[in-house]
Amino acid sequence: MDLKVEFETHFGIAHTRWATHGVPNAVNSHPQRSDKDNEFVVIHNGIITNYKDLRKFLESKGYEFESETDTETIAKLIKYVFDNRETEDITFSTLVERVIQQLEGAFALVFKSIHYPGEAVATRRGSPLLIGVRSKYKLSTEQIPVLYPTCNIENVKNICKTRMKRLDSSTCLHAVGDKAVEFFFASDASAIIEHTNRVIFLEDDDIAAVADGKLSIHRVKRSATDDPSRAIQTLQMELQQIMKGNFSAFMQKEIFEQPESVFNTMRGRVNFETNTVLLGGLKDHLKEIRRCRRLIVIGCGTSYHAAVATRQVLEELTELPVMVELASDFLDRNTPVFRDDVCFFISQSGETADTLLALRYCKDRGALTVGITNTVGSSISRETDCGVHINAGPEIGVASTKAYTSQFISLVMFGLMMSEDRISLQNRRQEIIRGLRSLPELIKEVLSLDEKIHDLALELYTQRSLLVMGRGYNYATCLEGALKIKEITYMHSEGILAGELKHGPLALVDKQMPVIMVIMKDPCFAKCQNALQQVTARQGRPIILCSKDDTESSKFAYKTIELPHTVDCLQGILSVIPLQLLSFHLAVLRGYDVDFPRNLAKSVTVE
Ligand code: G6P
Repeated sequence: MDLKVEFETHFGIAHTRWATHGVPNAVNSHPQRSDKDNEFVVIHNGIITNYKDLRKFLESKGYEFESETDTETIAKLIKYVFDNRETEDITFSTLVERVIQQLEGAFALVFKSIHYPGEAVATRRGSPLLIGVRSKYKLSTEQIPVLYPTCNIENVKNICKTRMKRLDSSTCLHAVGDKAVEFFFASDASAIIEHTNRVIFLEDDDIAAVADGKLSIHRVKRSATDDPSRAIQTLQMELQQIMKGNFSAFMQKEIFEQPESVFNTMRGRVNFETNTVLLGGLKDHLKEIRRCRRLIVIGCGTSYHAAVATRQVLEELTELPVMVELASDFLDRNTPVFRDDVCFFISQSGETADTLLALRYCKDRGALTVGITNTVGSSISRETDCGVHINAGPEIGVASTKAYTSQFISLVMFGLMMSEDRISLQNRRQEIIRGLRSLPELIKEVLSLDEKIHDLALELYTQRSLLVMGRGYNYATCLEGALKIKEITYMHSEGILAGELKHGPLALVDKQMPVIMVIMKDPCFAKCQNALQQVTARQGRPIILCSKDDTESSKFAYKTIELPHTVDCLQGILSVIPLQLLSFHLAVLRGYDVDFPRNLAKSVTVE
């Protein structure tokens, strides 16, 4: 392309990528291109789940791929559609329309092409996309009509012609009298708010095209809402507020994101039809892992709790000894590590100093190292032999929430992958996979208890201490719940193994001390009932997190929070959420900054 050419209109595209496929490097960064001449370039926010099939198809047509991204298939696909067009005057937006018909997954896309100078086309499905509008001059319209093909959609030639004809000034947004207007395409209002607060929110499958400085919006089919136009809205919010959406804190937003974040962790990995799990980052090492002496799962803080939460199911599914370790203590003990050990390093940030040092310690001793992180390209993901990206999306609140549930699921998926060939475990595997499938819906049900939990916080927020008790699969919930409470409410809180009650903690119980008990319908149910009796016998007034159908525990409860039931080994994902919500409400009521608690950092990069 001749760079000296001067255009009337200017258009640039760029994308800060949260890596899902491939490490962050120049080749994997956006825009992705169709070929070395950059005939088509595209930026993409989201995940294309059928990219492997598309890539195979395009490779069979002679297209050579240069990156590891799912996005590159889109750039190649649009060139394929263009090269095989049946009419010369096909519009840029028609090409995009055809491309998105082949895509599965979630995407917000913006395209540019040397074949359509001065034009850009954007579209979305599942991922957000909005258009900022800035002009000093009066705009031609405040409502942009949505254009539909007026003829049979199969007849592409006619569609193009019809569209071209209908694209007159009355169907486009521009400044009156050919004065300058600027359009900004972005996933999020926070990216453009410093330039304009006037925005158009696109709906799924809208195709927005800017040509000659004019914006028009098309659809192949009528939208579900059937709104015949898209309005320009004026945002009144501050930048911080926009990034938080309707939530008052990032932590709250992240708690409520869990139905989607756990789904994203499983997306493309769990096949609910065949009851199989494939973790791409581990598959080449599976044989070696199956032959190992033991699994050592290492982390700090919440990440360590994810290891505690899944230890039992990992022991059951892998039939291997599983050690869970706090990274600092593991190092302090100079723990013996052998060449045939497999060591897992769990870390949201992938940068925690103690976890990283433990990783290097294990590597030096010849163990196979596996990273479970939320940050592609982080030190832990780079330095481990293999790993799993938990795909929870960025977590900003210092108190970790959605990363915990996604780490939990990643470890369960690993156990499922390890046990694929074990005939004796098939029923159990199917039960767990069914449980995984229904988790997003059940999490929504738990989140709907928010108001009730807020009311509970109103009763508790002036207290100095809060004990959280449980055992078995839900012991980790107690540790994690107590950690959330102390991190952001500054109340004293302890997660207590109910089996240890008589060995000390019972001395703390009286009618003043608030006690939360996690009692689920699982193999520890009867033992939890014993603990409950011990607490009520000391005039304790337990607040019980229990299953919806549990009439036994509720008889002795001061208050209950009733949760939907799932498979025992996944119940901890549901039982931790009320405690995340409780800690959030307690902190707000106590007047503290939920996202940035005193003395704590999101990423602890010093020992
Ligand atoms: C800090 C954070 C915790 C986190 C821990 C481990 O203490 O405040 O929320 O659980 O580090 O961090 P990592 O990034 O390794 O999971």
